[in-house]
Amino acid sequence: MNSVIVAVDKSKVVGFLCYTSFSGKMLLLWMAVAKDYHRKGIGEKLLSYLEDLSRKLKIYSIEVETLPDEDPYEPYKQTRNFYYKNGFKRVLYKKARVKGWDDQIVLEKVL
Ligand SMILES: CC(C)(COP(=O)(O)OP(=O)(O)OC[C@H]1O[C@@H](n2cnc3c(N)ncnc32)[C@H](O)[C@@H]1OP(=O)(O)O)[C@@H](O)C(=O)NCCC(=O)NCCS
Repeated sequence: MNSVIVAVDKSKVVGFLCYTSFSGKMLLLWMAVAKDYHRKGIGEKLLSYLEDLSRKLKIYSIEVETLPDEDPYEPYKQTRNFYYKNGFKRVLYKKARVKGWDDQIVLEKVL
């Protein structure tokens, strides 16, 4: 089952983080913060909530997939910066198995 954590400002949702757990790991499926609210620490707060929840569930690993560092697409460079700044490490390179799909990397944060 997938779940979502939301960040709210004056009754307006300004950020979300979707997650699920699988085989003793927490999987961060997707997160985003509204553009006007970037760089205000909301992403870190959402992640920190997921970390606390994971510890409560005795899950000590969070994984997320994203585009590889080798990919020049600028928005994902910023996304990776966010994950690396928050203690994620690259653990796997996944070659795309379907023509037209992107290669992915798996980043892990050990809690
Ligand atoms: C990635 C994202 C969720 C970060 O949210 P945020 O609330 O802006 O992040 P924070 O303010 O908590 O940033 C924490 C740190 O991450 C790094 N960081 C965040 N955004 C960055 C950017 N655009 N460029 C470089 N570093 C960045 C910085 O080190 C930042 O700390 P600082 O502001 O003190 O320098 C947000 O940029 C976003 O929604 N991006 C578009 C969607 C996306 O890429 N989602 C992830 C795919 S799952």
